[in-house]
Amino acid sequence: MNLYDKVANDLRENIHAGLFVVGDKLPSIRQLTAQYSVSISTIQQAYHQLEMESLIEARPKSGYFVSVSTPIPAKPETSRPAQRPIDVSQWQEVLEVLLTKQGVDTIQLQHAMPNMSEVSLKPLLKKMTELMRHHVELSLPYGDINGVLALREQIVKLAATSGCALHPDDLVITSGCQEALSVCLRAVTEPGDIVAVESPSFYGAMQAIKAANLKAIEIPTNAESGLSLEALELALEQWPIKAILVTPTCNNPMGYTMPEEAKKRLYQLAQSYDISIIEDDIYGDISYQSPRPRTIKSFDEDGRVLLCSSFSKTVAPGIRVGWIAPGRYRDKVTHIKYVSSSMCPTLPQMAIADFIKSGGYNKHTRRVRLLYKQGRDHLIACIKRYFPQDTRISFPQGGYILWVELNKQYDTVKLASQCKAGAVSIAAGPIFSATGKYRSCMRLNFSEQTEIEREQGIRQLAFYINQQVAVSLDANIKTTLKN
Ligand SMILES: Cc1ncc(COP(=O)(O)O)c(C=O)c1O
Repeated sequence: MNLYDKVANDLRENIHAGLFVVGDKLPSIRQLTAQYSVSISTIQQAYHQLEMESLIEARPKSGYFVSVSTPIPAKPETSRPAQRPIDVSQWQEVLEVLLTKQGVDTIQLQHAMPNMSEVSLKPLLKKMTELMRHHVELSLPYGDINGVLALREQIVKLAATSGCALHPDDLVITSGCQEALSVCLRAVTEPGDIVAVESPSFYGAMQAIKAANLKAIEIPTNAESGLSLEALELALEQWPIKAILVTPTCNNPMGYTMPEEAKKRLYQLAQSYDISIIEDDIYGDISYQSPRPRTIKSFDEDGRVLLCSSFSKTVAPGIRVGWIAPGRYRDKVTHIKYVSSSMCPTLPQMAIADFIKSGGYNKHTRRVRLLYKQGRDHLIACIKRYFPQDTRISFPQGGYILWVELNKQYDTVKLASQCKAGAVSIAAGPIFSATGKYRSCMRLNFSEQTEIEREQGIRQLAFYINQQVAVSLDANIKTTLKN
């Protein structure tokens, strides 16, 4: 990355994060020159880049200011779910999304799919081919019930970067993170128990709650700071909650990362109410922050945190390699994993172990992280340009999905069916709620489209959104005329 790109990125980030708001004066060229130890022309180039994006404007003899002409989109408001235990619905809606076949020409903004066309994945594919060609016999017998040791050794090293001191024996390999979440839920609850979740929340986690005959209590969640700890504490006082299931780092669907201090307080809350935390860290390694953020598990002193992850979002979902660090629930987790799917196939585990050991994984995640961050900025710029002015957008701190909140008059379920006629796809809001809330919200992916495709997709969506206004105006006129 050029030096001026770095400065521009930092400033852009600070503006989007609200550290500088519309009309604020930005640091002078002299200040930034000293701060970054770079030349005046580097800072001038950075400011020029932000001017070209209409994010800032130069005022004669006064310096640079956050532009008034392009307001920074507001973040979604803190959610207000019904704060009582409920049965999770939405399975038919989730199934419909899972069964959706994307046409070759469809601009895919719907699925949380990583970019799998990067050259940095080549070493992994090469290893998989080599294993299939020369060591296919290794795939035939039963393997270790807890997973391939070489892989668990590598995961221990990865987990160290999030502050966790683990041993290979502390890990259980699973078939992706979905199985990890499902096994953990069954390990720490009995049917009928209540599990607290963020709202909105990943639909697969909520369907796992449903399948285990549990009830969900949705906790108000902020698009920047995550789960409201105050609301959680109130819920803990009121209900016999058994576990908290959270994705606190690069959350799906909103993209926030809970501040480290809040993660610690969440752990302390779990301690004082003596409940367990299932922490989904599936996107943690593609946080834009370096070093990557700590996990809640890194604060765990008494084994109550079950850390779950997989290589589905960082590498590829089809490889189906996930893992659990189950803490004090290890024996129960091993038993439930055994009865649910016995062991996992050996060759994909060996291929991933080699990818990590040879440095390929770190190289790949470094590369895509940059790509995703650019994708985020571009998608936000497109939404700002084409969507209605009062649209609210989350500002992800990692990964490749963001949350859009339209004015309540719009319906994203309708929008999703309008999209079927066109060449773009979205994930409508209700599947991210236990009860079908968030009908004016949607989740969009920004991992794999070219800038041209992304802009086309957003223009198409904006067209359908405008059509909804036209249809409702038309209906209003007809009603008025009838009366
Ligand atoms: C937050 C989160 N957790 C878990 C999963 C499931 O992951 P896997 O494909 O590894 O089973 C997903 C997939 O979309 C996800 O977004």
